[in-house]
Amino acid sequence: MRLKIGKTLSAFAILAASASYAHAGDVEVLHWWTSGGEAAALTVLKKDLESQNVGWQDMPVAGGGGTQAMTVLRARVTAGNAPTAVQMLGFDITDWAKEGALANLNDIATAEGWDDVVPAALQKFSKNDGQWVAAPVNVHSTNWVWANKAVLDELGIAQPKTWDELVAAMEKVKAAGKTAVAHGGQAWQDATIFDAVAMSTGGPDFYKAAFVDLDPEVLGSDTMKEAFDRMSVIRSYVDDNFSGRDWNLASAMVINGDAAFQFMGDWAKGEFINAGKEPGKDFLCFRFPGTQDQVTFNSDQFALFKQGDAVSSEQGALAKAIMSPAFQSAFNVVKGSVPARVDVSDEAFDACGKQGMKDLAAASKSGNLYGSAAHGHANPASVKNAMYDVITAHFNGEYDSETAVSELVTAVEIAQ
Ligand code: GAL
Repeated sequence: MRLKIGKTLSAFAILAASASYAHAGDVEVLHWWTSGGEAAALTVLKKDLESQNVGWQDMPVAGGGGTQAMTVLRARVTAGNAPTAVQMLGFDITDWAKEGALANLNDIATAEGWDDVVPAALQKFSKNDGQWVAAPVNVHSTNWVWANKAVLDELGIAQPKTWDELVAAMEKVKAAGKTAVAHGGQAWQDATIFDAVAMSTGGPDFYKAAFVDLDPEVLGSDTMKEAFDRMSVIRSYVDDNFSGRDWNLASAMVINGDAAFQFMGDWAKGEFINAGKEPGKDFLCFRFPGTQDQVTFNSDQFALFKQGDAVSSEQGALAKAIMSPAFQSAFNVVKGSVPARVDVSDEAFDACGKQGMKDLAAASKSGNLYGSAAHGHANPASVKNAMYDVITAHFNGEYDSETAVSELVTAVEIAQ
């Protein structure tokens, strides 16, 4: 299976590597925003650039979380054909900056005052060695639950606030013959749930020690075993056809009332909005039970690859467009995320967006803001991918919780 995926990917990578360079006046943008909600958000950016006479050459690489996109990117750069701009997450930006591949955006950042408006938690990734190397377009967070309101109302289920209440709610849905949890069995999706479950099980100190500090004792602890046990509980409420399902199809199950809950980052909201659904009326958004005070975040940023000595005018236009306050509002309203600038009003946002902005500000103030391990903001890709393998093997029943814990310790040690 792994070999097959590898072969398909490398064939795709070779094809992508031979794609042509962007024409002058165009930006070529490599990204993984291919679902309905994501594409709608991307259109906001394309239109903004078109209005400035900058053409858009699309280089979409499907695959939530961006694993496949990063494989294609590596092939493109190796072939000497780097795209103009690339959607990127957290430590991937740092890795590419360290390789010297990214353009220096300091002139634009200084002229536009980015230092004053981008929160430190994002600047940690937007900058390398004091140099701006990426423009953040949003802040997402992974510890959300998306629920179909009619299904919950019909079964008399109140919004669960604790793990036990969540289990009782899932049980009630299952007993009524419906799918409790809409999920797609892909490693990054399993890991996205694990972000929330680990935070809920062990709390913020545990989360940081395990995923940021990579402390072997905490990785191998009883608390980690309990987190895996809870993943097994969730696994028992997923339908039989979950394997390989894309995340947006899982969102559709909740949208259509075929399932009650999805545990997913707030890009899921983009799917609900794109389907014409309203928060509070058709669907509910709330923090994963037990993580009400925490935010596990990831920020999509656009890194500009060096094309010559200076940043091209098209690259500059893209970076400026991304950082404009009006654009940050318009884009994030559609995307499901919240602005990457602290000075954007929440006026245009729906109830979930307003809550997202409030939660982010509160978590940042109280020291409860943590980088998402599943989305490249807690540790580098090598460690992240090693964790994916263990989490997904456990979710699919290859490991029991005890084995998963010891495999996690070993995998993280090898990956560093
Ligand atoms: C995340 C990304 C989001 C969303 C999601 C699913 O990694 O930050 O913008 O696209 O993947 O594709």
